Amino acid sequence: MTLILRDKAALRAWRAALPAGARLGFVPTMGALHEGHMSLMAQARAAADVVIASIFVNPLQFGPNEDLSRYPRPLEADLEKLEKAGVEAVFLPAAEEMYPPGASTFVEETMVSAPLCGAVRPGHFRGVATVVLKLLNLVQPHLAVFGQKDAQQCAVIERMVRDFDVPVEIRRGPIVREADGLALSSRNVYLSPQDRAAAPLIHQSLRTVEAAYLAGEHDAEALARIGLGVLARSARIVPQYWEVRDPESLGAIATVGARGALLAVAAHLGSTRLIDNLVLPPRP
Ligand code: PAF
Repeated sequence: MTLILRDKAALRAWRAALPAGARLGFVPTMGALHEGHMSLMAQARAAADVVIASIFVNPLQFGPNEDLSRYPRPLEADLEKLEKAGVEAVFLPAAEEMYPPGASTFVEETMVSAPLCGAVRPGHFRGVATVVLKLLNLVQPHLAVFGQKDAQQCAVIERMVRDFDVPVEIRRGPIVREADGLALSSRNVYLSPQDRAAAPLIHQSLRTVEAAYLAGEHDAEALARIGLGVLARSARIVPQYWEVRDPESLGAIATVGARGALLAVAAHLGSTRLIDNLVLPPRP
C-alpha cells in the first residue's frame, strides 16, 4: 500500500520511523506518470530498500505563458501506478505547503542552466533547483533518480548537489521511447493526431546526426544543420533550438572531440513544446 504523505510533518515522521540503515531512494515527479517515470521507480527500487516518490506540479518552474493550469493531473491513475510499482510512500504536498507565504529564498545555478531551455524559459531552472533542494532536504534520500530526457535538468541538479554539498547520490534514468522513437513525456497527450504523427522526426533528427558523426562529421554547426534539416521535413515542427554542446558543462563547442557531446533539441508542435536529446560518444 503506497502511503500518501500530504504535509512536511507527516513526511518527516515517516522518514524518522524508517528502519536504521534502510537505504532510501527518491523519485521526484510532477505526476501524469508514464513508463518513463515508472522506469525511474524501478531503478530506485533496484538500488534502495525503501522508495518514495513525490508528485508536485511546481508553479515556480512554469513561466507566465506556460502550461501550469492545463498540466495533466490524473492523480488516481498515478497512485495506482505507484502502488503497482511497490513504491512505499508518495509525498503529495499542496503549493502552500511547499511555499509558505513570504517565501523569499531561491536557488539559482548560473552556468549549466544558462543555455538551451534556460535561454528560452527564464526562471525555469531557478524553480526546478529551488523545489528539488527543498524536496531533497525534506526527504533526505540516499539516492534520487531523474530522467535523462531532461538532460539539462539533470546537469543543473548534479551541479547544485555538488556545489551545496547535499548528501545524496544523483542517478540518471535512460530515456524511454515509443516504438516510433518519440520520447515519453507527460506533454505528449496534448499532441493532435497530425502532430503526433510528425513528432518522431525529433528523434530521427538526433539519430541522423549521430550517424553523420559516426561517419566522420565532427563540426558542431554542420551537425546541428543536419538535425534541423530533418525537422524541416514537417512544417508542423517549429524548432526552438537544435544544439551540440559539451556533455557536462553544456558550454558551446566548435567540434565534437574527446569529451563527446550532448545533442539537444526543443521544438513546438502546435502549442506543445517537446524536448529530446542524445549523447554522442567521445571521438576516438
Ligand atoms: O522533471 C520533473 O518532473 C520536475 O522538473 C521535477 C524534477 C519533479 C521538479 O519539479
